[in-house]
Amino acid sequence: MTDPTPVRDVLSGAVVMAPMTKGSNLPYRRLCLELGARVTMSEMTVARRLKQKRRSEFALIRKAPGEPCFGVQLAGTNPDEMAWAAALVESRGADLVDVNLGCPIDHFTRKGLGAALARQPRRVQRIVETMKRGVQRAPITVKIRLGWNDDMRNYLEVARAAADGGADAIVVHGRTRNARYRQSADWDAIGEVAAAVPVPVVGNGDLLFPHEIETARRRAGCAGVMVARGALIKPWIFREAAEGYRDVGADERVALYRRYVDLALEHWGDDEHGRTRVRAFVRWHLGFWCRYAPRRADGSWPSMQAREPAGFARSSLEALLARGDDAALDFLADRLMAQAEIAPADAPPPAGAAREEPAAEVEG
Ligand SMILES: Cc1cc2nc3c(=O)[nH]c(=O)nc-3n(C[C@H](O)[C@H](O)[C@H](O)COP(=O)(O)O)c2cc1C
Repeated sequence: MTDPTPVRDVLSGAVVMAPMTKGSNLPYRRLCLELGARVTMSEMTVARRLKQKRRSEFALIRKAPGEPCFGVQLAGTNPDEMAWAAALVESRGADLVDVNLGCPIDHFTRKGLGAALARQPRRVQRIVETMKRGVQRAPITVKIRLGWNDDMRNYLEVARAAADGGADAIVVHGRTRNARYRQSADWDAIGEVAAAVPVPVVGNGDLLFPHEIETARRRAGCAGVMVARGALIKPWIFREAAEGYRDVGADERVALYRRYVDLALEHWGDDEHGRTRVRAFVRWHLGFWCRYAPRRADGSWPSMQAREPAGFARSSLEALLARGDDAALDFLADRLMAQAEIAPADAPPPAGAAREEPAAEVEG
């Protein structure tokens, strides 16, 4: 019997906004929703910290007004604690509950969380089984990597264990824990998972332009795809996926960044405390926004995995927006916070060496 479950309907053809520590903050999700996102995920939320009633953790599970399909991602190793947390987040409005099996950060993996948990497929199965009993109706999804390292690519085993435990969908980030972002995502491996499990699979890795989304989805035969850095660099990627590629000019981009400032101030408050917070987020987001580059003049496409040389800039504003150095990011953050005009001539020259690529180590 074919069973077109609701979660399959939700994920079919979807471009899911990935769970991202810091990046999937509530106002940024709202910006992405305004730009066409329909399925969004929270930042990684540690089940035990919810149990400890930590306010900062409860902030992560808050659904935005009108958010149509909001998934909360949980990290934990104890089946009962994960089931309790799943029930809690469902009661607070989560439409999906996702299990983090990919976080590479030592602080978490040392405690057996994230990518370390994926080394224990039987435990994964038990956690999912117990979570399924904890929720009333919210589907349970799991987000995996390909494995711990190239010698332990156990993705099929983990995906099957999760599906056997009752997972309603599997998200596959096509890299191992040790690879971090050094290699390109392996969409053939994602396709193997899609062929191996009876539940919908969402493929994830390196998607930046609409044609890549379509090609990857078809190649891997997965239900939907997920974008992380693509959404941080281009929050309009969701609209673009539906309507086709369009170069978004510098003025239009600045207008979107200003919109984020408004949403963030609404969320964190337009007082001294809130503004300090918002500036820190804006400054952080600018570190991704500066990576935007349009299709090249020769018709080829920039790649997610290589920083595009800034030579493409067609105006002094575009050149400024493409700078990733501290002086430029501070200047832009201050201008955006002050709701002031951005005059490239006023921008300070780069001080010292260019910044490191942001966030490779922030990732959960
Ligand atoms: C800033 C940042 C934070 C992330 N935080 C999380 C997280 O909390 N949970 C998670 O499962 N993955 C997290 N990731 C990984 C992404 O969800 C995604 O799997 C990965 O970036 C690959 O997708 P991409 O190539 O589209 O960026 C994070 C990634 C980034 C860039």
